[in-house]
Amino acid sequence: MSNETIRVEELYKSFGDNHVLKGVDLAFPKGTTTVILGGSGSGKSVLMKHLIGLLQPDQGRVLVDGDDIAQLDGIELTSLRAKFGMVFQWAALFDSMNVLENVAFPLREHRKDLSEDEIRSRVADKLALFDLRGVEQKYPADLSGGMRKRVGLARAIIMDPTIVLYDEPTTGLDPITTDYVDEMIKQAKSSLGVTSVVISHDIASAFNVADYIAFLYGGHIVAYGSPSAVKESSHPFVHQFLSTWFRKN
Ligand SMILES: Nc1ncnc2c1ncn2[C@@H]1O[C@H](COP(=O)(O)OP(=O)(O)OP(=O)(O)O)[C@@H](O)[C@H]1O
Ligand SMILES: [Mg+2]
Repeated sequence: MSNETIRVEELYKSFGDNHVLKGVDLAFPKGTTTVILGGSGSGKSVLMKHLIGLLQPDQGRVLVDGDDIAQLDGIELTSLRAKFGMVFQWAALFDSMNVLENVAFPLREHRKDLSEDEIRSRVADKLALFDLRGVEQKYPADLSGGMRKRVGLARAIIMDPTIVLYDEPTTGLDPITTDYVDEMIKQAKSSLGVTSVVISHDIASAFNVADYIAFLYGGHIVAYGSPSAVKESSHPFVHQFLSTWFRKN
């Protein structure tokens, strides 16, 4: 069994004349956190959508636990997606549902075999993991932004995924809430052993959570490695992107 949870091979993707991915090769080792950095519009979200089969490659392959996603039929794709939890920037909770119903939502959809007691106990376990206790009856409007984020993450992991994808989890958050979200990402990795893929604009948080950083530019991964290795990258754009930030901080 390979040590890689996801492997992207020679991935090409265009939308009309817009050649977004031009041969991306990238592997995501099991139980590690990889942060994808890159400028706005560089294709980070497009790359992430391929990992879960929301977009199909023009050329190349995406392997998840050794399975080529493009070769899967509908049922196989559904069970593959059950391996994933996803946290989006605007991790929209349902405003009309309380925390219990929000977090339980995927279980109620996919695990009709579970009793009400079992559902409540699983929800309480996941909330406790992120330091949220006794909030089941509250509504999203009653929670702080940071608490909403944590509820969103509890929902993302309620099905016990082995892979969690985060698209811009900290964009628009204040520094303290950002730190909190970073700690959650680390917590999900250390407690659950998940493989995490994080898209970020936030260099501080990227360097805080990453085991590996992959830098996407011009349709290619132009720098890859540990945070300290990528920080020393000689690629002109990577250097500029990071040095602007490191000079200020
Ligand atoms: N479904 C689509 N149809 C057509 N073009 C698309 C589609 N999805 C993305 N694109 C284009 O692909 C390019 C990359 O978009 P993507 O959303 O991946 O950028 P990004 O790196 O995530 O940027 P940001 O940091 O702003 O979120 C953009 O030019 C975008 O307009
Ligand atoms: Mg994006």
